[in-house]
Amino acid sequence: MNYNFKPNTTILVTGSAGFIGFHVTKKLLETNVNIIGLDNLNDYYDVNLKKSRNKILKEFDNYKFYKGDLKDLNFVKKVLDENPSIDKICHLAAQAGVRYSLTHPHTYIQTNIVGFTNLIDEAKNHNIKDFIYASSSSVYGKNEKIPFSVEDNVDKPISLYAASKKANELIAHSYHHLYGMNCTGLRFFTVYGPYGRPDMALFLFTKAILENKPIKVFNHGKMKRDFTYIDDIVSGILASLYKSYPYEIFNLGNHKSIELNYFIELIEKNLGKKAQKQMMDIQPGDVENTFADIKSSQEKLNFDPQTSIEDGIKKFIDWYKNYYKIK
Ligand SMILES: NC(=O)c1ccc[n+]([C@@H]2O[C@H](COP(=O)([O-])OP(=O)(O)OC[C@H]3O[C@@H](n4cnc5c(N)ncnc54)[C@H](O)[C@@H]3O)[C@@H](O)[C@H]2O)c1
Repeated sequence: MNYNFKPNTTILVTGSAGFIGFHVTKKLLETNVNIIGLDNLNDYYDVNLKKSRNKILKEFDNYKFYKGDLKDLNFVKKVLDENPSIDKICHLAAQAGVRYSLTHPHTYIQTNIVGFTNLIDEAKNHNIKDFIYASSSSVYGKNEKIPFSVEDNVDKPISLYAASKKANELIAHSYHHLYGMNCTGLRFFTVYGPYGRPDMALFLFTKAILENKPIKVFNHGKMKRDFTYIDDIVSGILASLYKSYPYEIFNLGNHKSIELNYFIELIEKNLGKKAQKQMMDIQPGDVENTFADIKSSQEKLNFDPQTSIEDGIKKFIDWYKNYYKIK
């Protein structure tokens, strides 16, 4: 669906060189929205991938990029001072990843809590009312009720990553209550697709299988994930930016739970090659199953995911082979 943002709408996208930020920014640039992009291009994963996403964005005249860190309050102030035309903020920059949060807890507090607060507080100081931000399906922790509904209690995170995302939802609520900001939190469910993250299963498995290396299969392949294709996530984010509800939390998931074993079979089929599987127990902090209830996203955002896991994995592998020039 195409949204007709008002002429000269300007949106600040944080994490614009990241996986989701890149796709959202590109789509918005194509619809003539002006984008201020911000990213610190950190080396959590291959910086060249971030740079090549950013290079594509820099080809658009309506893209202005700032390299800097959200932890640095003066930098955040400077970006907002220099761009008084910003109408909305789409906050996607974060330290992502559940497993990394076990070994690097402070990074999550600094970027996801301090950085988040720097940004939302400066948004308030600069009278920017519309604030859309990334939360995560990981806030559901060990929720046993399937599918996961935004009505469910999410007070028991099982990783610091999840705790930082839940904290974002709470901070956003307080800014909505105190200052009338329009805050929408989006709980993304395992996003995948072209230009995807090298630390996530689809990328890791594809690379390892092509290089004849073993893959680690956690929970003996019995883990289930609601894998959601990037184009469907972008549609949900654009709808949220367009509608700017006063205060909402939405699930953005494909509404299908796929077993890891089947996911690996699809990768093998597309690569025409078998994986060497190293069966492992579940990792601390990981959840066994995720499955989004998307009733309220369907009603309020017209969210209607279109891409099956079979088509999505094919699109990723076509991109991967083309990008890394693999015959
Ligand atoms: N990809 C998923 O499956 C998924 C699932 C749930 C939630 N999320 C959330 O969605 C958002 C985007 O995720 P992604 O997959 O695109 O991750 P990503 O790591 O590809 O993108 C995040 C970007 O933010 C930048 N960044 C990190 N810390 C920063 C800081 N302190 N200052 C400035 N820039 C900084 C990084 O350099 C990166 O380019 C994140 O908030 C993530 O937690 C992602």
